[in-house]
Amino acid sequence: MGQPDAVFNKANLQADYFINKKRGVKQMKIIVCKTYQEMSQAAADIVARQIKKKPDTVLGLATGSTPVGLYQNLIKMNRDGVIDFSGVVTFNLDEYVGLPKEHPCSYYRFMFDNLFDHINIKKENVHLPDGLAPSLEDECKVYEQKITQAGGIDLQVLGIGHNGHIGFNEPGTPFESVSHIVDLAPRTIQANSRFFSSPDEVPRKALSMGIKSIMHARMILFLASGKDKAEIVSRAFNGPVTTDVPASVLQLHPDVTAILDEDAASCLQKQLLLNI
Ligand code: PGA
Repeated sequence: MGQPDAVFNKANLQADYFINKKRGVKQMKIIVCKTYQEMSQAAADIVARQIKKKPDTVLGLATGSTPVGLYQNLIKMNRDGVIDFSGVVTFNLDEYVGLPKEHPCSYYRFMFDNLFDHINIKKENVHLPDGLAPSLEDECKVYEQKITQAGGIDLQVLGIGHNGHIGFNEPGTPFESVSHIVDLAPRTIQANSRFFSSPDEVPRKALSMGIKSIMHARMILFLASGKDKAEIVSRAFNGPVTTDVPASVLQLHPDVTAILDEDAASCLQKQLLLNI
């Protein structure tokens, strides 16, 4: 693990980030919507545009409450014939260690319940890390290879944890990390216990794409909703780039669109905002 409280030093950047820079860093685009519903529709429009432009798009997907509205809109657009998922490939950010796929709290189950069971995606095109793999280290390596073989992620959907995590990359995770085994932070265990019967049942470990894996996505679609995310969103976008706030690394990505509802945007400096 790196220095948890070290402000990220550009001199430590791996060459890949400079390659990104050469592609031309655009300023992070921040869109503020009045409500969660508007945020979810705006996000779905961006995903739909991407799939229309590239029918074999590789999508990076996230779990949690935030993207549920996005997924509902995508389901509707698929039913209405607006988007076709038959060529789309997906990679999820993370999965708990130790939960079978059919467990009601596994991220595999979450994704099928909230999206995959309701759209015309091919099951063989859907990928999540296997938290029951005999060797978790090998599973992480293979997951990373599969992303590369698929041509890399075109568009990565991201939420943010209250501690600034992206995927399950908790504060202190090195920016150079690729898919890895994670010890979940106490705050994450507490936050996620709402899906389990008690905090004791929340797995203590997970597999997660690394920060470098996320930064390699060609475009990031970042979503945050609610007052409880306002402070961490402000630290991520207005504060220093630091491993203390993993999402702050997104300031270095060349193509980020952040869609926030008004509550989540309420602590951001006004000059950053582009209202719709
Ligand atoms: P949430 O989780 O969407 O349920 O708030 C986000 C996260 O932990 O990344």
